[in-house]
Amino acid sequence: MDKREFMQAHLPAVGSVRGSREHFAPSNIALCKYWGKRDAQLNLPVNASLSVSLGHLGTRTRVEPLDAPQDSVYLNGRLQGADSRFAQRVSAFIDLFRMGQPEQMFRVDTDNNIPTAAGLASSASGFAALTRAMDEAYGLGMSDTELSVIARLGSGSACRSLFEGFVEWQMGVREDGLDSHAIPVDKPWPGLCVGLVKVDEREKRVDSRAGMQRTKETAHLYQSWPLQAGADLAKLHNALDERDFGLLGAVAEQNALSMHATMIASWPPLLYWQPDTVAAMHRVWALREEGLALYFTMDAGPNLKLLFESASQAAVEAAFPGLEVIKPFGD
Ligand code: PMV
Repeated sequence: MDKREFMQAHLPAVGSVRGSREHFAPSNIALCKYWGKRDAQLNLPVNASLSVSLGHLGTRTRVEPLDAPQDSVYLNGRLQGADSRFAQRVSAFIDLFRMGQPEQMFRVDTDNNIPTAAGLASSASGFAALTRAMDEAYGLGMSDTELSVIARLGSGSACRSLFEGFVEWQMGVREDGLDSHAIPVDKPWPGLCVGLVKVDEREKRVDSRAGMQRTKETAHLYQSWPLQAGADLAKLHNALDERDFGLLGAVAEQNALSMHATMIASWPPLLYWQPDTVAAMHRVWALREEGLALYFTMDAGPNLKLLFESASQAAVEAAFPGLEVIKPFGD
């Protein structure tokens, strides 16, 4: 089954477009990562994952019906060429909604307050915001669960950006992926901090889709990944239940490094780290040796996301000057 067949089977009857709509969706950082697809068409994962949404950091997307031969796609105020990868991904996603009216075009304005494609998951918030905006533009009134399923078709991790706070993406077992969507995990953690260490904000050369495929096809080490992820997810739930920050941080860090180990073991090798990435890791480990409860996670890119609690904020900021700190649950 491909995306179009899925939408034909499951999208509510699409009427005429209602008008312009605008939505914000938060970016999210996975503490237990999604890495590897069991179905590349529908973005169905090999493992369940768990993330925390980043509050005010994310994407605001506005869609406006357009009387023109093609969509106009703007990213941070700049018109993207129709043949650019960004515009093509956006238009292909909108195609899923306008199937009955292929001539209906849109102007799409996407504004990220996070660096695009620098391992800070702008595609997740982007597709989540676009999904909500399209649902409203057509007056479909889908539930959050249905929207999560559809956002997943744009980018896997987008299914988690429909929700705030901690979010679990249940992998599901169905071939059509109807049961593969995110759910909110209502265990707020005031004082939890995520610090963004920006090593390099340039667009990465191998995107996560290609990276996952290469890892799955060429890294023997990948075979152990689903087991690791399953065990980590269970431990993270314990950490949330017990408010055990040491456990949360340790599991998130080991999970991220395990994912990167499978990438490094691929062929050709996939190493997103740069010298400054490794230097930042060593700084975290040195501070931890000194007794600071500080951990990191990282996605398919060179940037680190530090995990700590409010009580450690001053010490962490002293060690990482210029750190952008996000408190997903407030203080
Ligand atoms: O949603 P995608 O296809 O961009 O993949 C995201 C993959 C990671 O960011 C590395 C992990 C995750 O769970 O977000």
